[in-house]
Amino acid sequence: MPIAMSKANIARSMRSGSLLLGRSLTTVRHLSNTSRLLNDETTHFGSKTVPKNEKEKLVGHVFSNVASKYDIMNDVMSLGIHRLWKDHFINKLDAGKRPNSKEPLHFIDVAGGSGDIAFGLLDHAEQKFHDKESTMHIVDINANMLKEGEKRAMNQGKYYNDPRVTFLVQNGETLDQIESDSKDVYTISFGIRNFTDIQAGLNTAYRVLKPGGIFFCLEFSKVNNPLVDVIYQQWSKVLPVMGSIVANDYDSYQYLVESIQRFPDQEEFKSMIEKAGFESAGYESLTFGVCSIHWGIKV
Ligand SMILES: C[S@@+](CC[C@H](N)C(=O)[O-])C[C@H]1O[C@@H](n2cnc3c(N)ncnc32)[C@H](O)[C@@H]1O
Repeated sequence: MPIAMSKANIARSMRSGSLLLGRSLTTVRHLSNTSRLLNDETTHFGSKTVPKNEKEKLVGHVFSNVASKYDIMNDVMSLGIHRLWKDHFINKLDAGKRPNSKEPLHFIDVAGGSGDIAFGLLDHAEQKFHDKESTMHIVDINANMLKEGEKRAMNQGKYYNDPRVTFLVQNGETLDQIESDSKDVYTISFGIRNFTDIQAGLNTAYRVLKPGGIFFCLEFSKVNNPLVDVIYQQWSKVLPVMGSIVANDYDSYQYLVESIQRFPDQEEFKSMIEKAGFESAGYESLTFGVCSIHWGIKV
């Protein structure tokens, strides 16, 4: 069966993986319990409590607003470091059809609108393994974000109108049009914290992966250094103001800050990945836990 790596290899490479920007988290910080106080009909949208069936629309509104200025937004929010995190994510996953393998890999990049991760993964597979066969589904709930990805593909003259690459509007919580047991590699970068039901998204990731397939996620996380945390909290207060200056959009940036604060810490998210059925779950904290890479294998 074509898989990105064997389970043993993945476990080994995760253990030995060098930490580019920080140290692994050893302390466990617990989420505020406020999220557990919500009833079944409501959820969080930033700091607000909203009906569950409205969150999707509100998140859609945020990303439609930021779509055309998405790169600027990322650079502002992370001081450009997101590019290093993404490179590290792609190199650490190290996916691609190996020369001795007969079958191409089937990738899915969920919440992948910008195409950053999907194109990076395909470039990596080609440059490192001469893999020009593996396929990629780029899936996003927001058609405007997907258009930005397509535009980028067109501008770079690669992966546009490419039979290997499919752009698809889909909710990552359900992935209705993706068959079960059909993908070798599932990636999601800075997307899952926007899901109304994160656990449903993880369960769906498990469903669409083949046995032996890997779930690999990059997401903002919990800072594990008190001094850095103080600076980070101050930075979070300034961000919406920066958003209004750079993109004339205070509210979307305010939502993004609050969605980061609401997201489970490293240990809690690892438990959710295990709850979905994944084995060998683990994580690497980057830049003192500002963001983390999480993974799990479907056995
Ligand atoms: C911050 S962007 C990340 C884009 C890209 N993965 C990256 O790392 O540059 C978050 C993306 O998540 C998408 N998104 C939010 N909720 C989603 C859902 N339920 N299903 C699929 N995509 C979703 C948004 O439309 C947006 O494109």
